[in-house]
Amino acid sequence: MKKNDIDHGRRAFLRISGAATTLALVAPLAALAQTPAGGAMKIGVVGSGRIGGTIGKLWVKAGHQVLFSSRHPEQLKGMVEPLGPKASAGTVREAIVFGDAVLIAVPYAALPQIGKDFANELKGKVVLDACNAIAARDGEIVKEVQEKGIGVTSAQYLPGARLVRAFNSFSWMKFESESNRAGELIGVPIGVDDPEALKIGSKLVRDAGFEPVAVPLARAKEFAPGGPLMGQALPVSELKKRLGIA
Ligand SMILES: NC(=O)c1ccc[n+]([C@@H]2O[C@H](COP(=O)([O-])OP(=O)(O)OC[C@H]3O[C@@H](n4cnc5c(N)ncnc54)[C@H](OP(=O)(O)O)[C@@H]3O)[C@@H](O)[C@H]2O)c1
Repeated sequence: MKKNDIDHGRRAFLRISGAATTLALVAPLAALAQTPAGGAMKIGVVGSGRIGGTIGKLWVKAGHQVLFSSRHPEQLKGMVEPLGPKASAGTVREAIVFGDAVLIAVPYAALPQIGKDFANELKGKVVLDACNAIAARDGEIVKEVQEKGIGVTSAQYLPGARLVRAFNSFSWMKFESESNRAGELIGVPIGVDDPEALKIGSKLVRDAGFEPVAVPLARAKEFAPGGPLMGQALPVSELKKRLGIA
């Protein structure tokens, strides 16, 4: 072996061990930076499409453990793998059982069946409901939502869940682009009556990079389709003003 080869080998080793030392120093900092205030949670996502996929990714980025679900979990592989070890894929049941909190983001017409199929698993669970009732897609149930209000209707189809209406009021693209934006944060209206759901729902809105503005569940219709705040991604002070909150 020539001296040059040895030197080259040593240099490579030093480079690697130097990198390893740097990694050892940096890794715990990175881990710290990714631990959300108040601790990391386990979150199940039901409906990992545009809204569920987007919000779930923001939570992974914040340091939460997220199980994305689908009726065909194998199809989520491409979405979940690049997100690293904090993201995984599974069935709808697995996501609901896994989560300390569960985000449901499916077509509204699918909500009653999910409430029925997983009644036991959902009992006592904090559920963030992002589903909107859209006439062209959801059919009959839209009339019921218009009559009763969306918060009341969701609570009826998810009995026993500690419900928060959240992440439904503007487009997934805005959730993606406005998360943790510079300057005043964008407000996310949440409709909630249960105190524990208020606490966890507010935390998860903050961890996604927004500021929660809470109103009673019965007022959730104000930021659902047909309501004056639907589609509006407003700075938090403006949102509070529009909701009449000092
Ligand atoms: N898109 C937006 O910007 C936006 C904004 C606010 C609120 N929302 C509301 O959020 C909900 C989801 O919208 P999206 O745009 O994210 O829809 P999407 O991209 O079509 O994703 C919805 C997901 O729901 C799942 N799903 C459909 N039927 C289901 C069922 N019966 N049981 C379990 N999972 C079911 C599908 O997953 P699998 O087929 O993989 O099971 C699908 O990936 C809707 O109610 C929508 O109105 C959407």
